Amino acid sequence: MTAMLSIDDVHTYYGDSYVLQGVTLELKPGQVVALLGRNGVGKTTLVRSIAGLTPAQRGRIVFRDTDITRMPAYRIARMGIGLVPQGRRVFKSLSVKEHLQVTARGDGQWNFDRVVGLFPNLQSRLRSLAGKLSGGEQQMLAAARALVGNPEILLMDEPTEGLAPLMVRELGKTIESLKAAGTSILLVEQQLAFALRYADIVFIMSKGRIVHSCTPAELAKDSETKARYLGV
Ligand SMILES: Nc1ncnc2c1ncn2[C@@H]1O[C@H](COP(=O)(O)OP(=O)(O)OP(=O)(O)O)[C@@H](O)[C@H]1O
Ligand SMILES: [Mg+2]
Repeated sequence: MTAMLSIDDVHTYYGDSYVLQGVTLELKPGQVVALLGRNGVGKTTLVRSIAGLTPAQRGRIVFRDTDITRMPAYRIARMGIGLVPQGRRVFKSLSVKEHLQVTARGDGQWNFDRVVGLFPNLQSRLRSLAGKLSGGEQQMLAAARALVGNPEILLMDEPTEGLAPLMVRELGKTIESLKAAGTSILLVEQQLAFALRYADIVFIMSKGRIVHSCTPAELAKDSETKARYLGV
């Protein structure tokens, strides 16, 4: 199977601050890859490098057959890489419906009706301003906004952060639907149980590098790795 996304020896800086120190990782078609690691190890920076928001200085990021390493973010998004950013980043003064209208792209399977159908909580709040939604509803909106762009790859950066258990379950169902539809997902997660339930493969990051890769079942049994890199 050829890779959907291949990240090869990527190095990324914020000014003089050297954050990603040679990250190599592969996402295959239809796979859910979990990216785990303690706070500040560089998970979001990797997501930003893929999305073109903080481009890598060295190394290569290839989407299908296209080198996207230094492509501008809007082009990467248009090519089919959707982003659910950490902290949701919805537009407070746009309604739910307006969010989905302004970000719709392409004539793929995720049209307005289908996306709204996936999120019952949003369906009843189409006219509400995003700033008036609960944290969980805003997270759903961030996911829905990425989906109407019909991405082939979805980058989800800590989608369960701050969600009540019921909303976490809803989000899990969404991930299952996306997976069934063949979307590849890079899932950055702090909730280990959630990541292990939905991931096909797990990568662990420490100090700007991938230090471990295994199946969810292997990680579940590996208390040494969990203690050393995840603090659990
Ligand atoms: N805009 C920025 N400018 C300078 N340094 C930054 C910036 N954003 C993040 N950093 C630093 O880069 C490092 C990696 O941050 P990053 O946000 O990628 O970590 P993370 O693994 O996503 O953490 P968390 O689990 O808390 O979300 C940290 O040391 C952080 O302080
Ligand atoms: Mg982060």
